[in-house]
Amino acid sequence: MLEVESLVARYGAVEALHGVSLEVGSGEAVAVVGPNGAGKTTLLRTISGLVRAASGSVRIDGRTVGRTAAHRVARLGVSHVPEGRAILSPLTVKDNLLMGGYRLPGAEIQGRMEEMIELFPVLGRRLDSLGGVLSGGEQQMLAIARGLMARPRLLMIDEPSMGLAPRIVGDVLDALHRVVATGTAVLVSEQNAGLALEVADRAYVMVVGNVVASGRSEELEGNLLETYLA
Ligand SMILES: Nc1ncnc2c1ncn2[C@@H]1O[C@H](COP(=O)(O)OP(=O)(O)OP(=O)(O)O)[C@@H](O)[C@H]1O
Ligand SMILES: [Mg+2]
Repeated sequence: MLEVESLVARYGAVEALHGVSLEVGSGEAVAVVGPNGAGKTTLLRTISGLVRAASGSVRIDGRTVGRTAAHRVARLGVSHVPEGRAILSPLTVKDNLLMGGYRLPGAEIQGRMEEMIELFPVLGRRLDSLGGVLSGGEQQMLAIARGLMARPRLLMIDEPSMGLAPRIVGDVLDALHRVVATGTAVLVSEQNAGLALEVADRAYVMVVGNVVASGRSEELEGNLLETYLA
């Protein structure tokens, strides 16, 4: 459903993506792994329309969106959970979820929120808490649930394990498995390759603006990955 071809993105004189190509099929879980500065966030932001592509193309269900405004990309069924989660701290958990569902028909909002609580029971127990008082792991669940509220067909999640203790990373991994099980395609960006390969069917390894390896997760585990990330 997502086809990225020879994508180039720049910040002024700095070229952050040198011609990146990747694909995500319907319902597929795909990872982009790589170290600091590889361009993972830039890739997700360019797909979302938050960064303008200098050249190359992004297609969603065959429609070219390379230079399309972010709200239009969202309308095509892509939700983006940003690096750092961007929870609205002064709003309650419930209001954060409602923000994610603002495009849904009014009659569907309550039902969708109940589905999110079923998927992430911890949120149901904290509906009236302010977003800012949740733990890091809970905030990540909330960010994912907020992204899912709009019923996307592709959920892009940037660095979900960032700043979380190892035990909590396990909870986030469980959450990602549950999202994939709903049939939503997932594109997850991670420095934590172990986590990403565990959840993804396939992965792309990025280093300084290029994809340097790709394949099925089980093939990439071990030597190849270590070599590239070293
Ligand atoms: N707003 C910006 N202005 C200028 N340069 C930027 C900007 N954002 C990112 N860059 C540069 O683009 C390159 C790719 O950064 P990006 O944040 O996409 O990498 P990343 O793989 O997400 O890294 P990390 O794992 O640290 O999140 C880096 O060289 C970075 O310094
Ligand atoms: Mg990043």
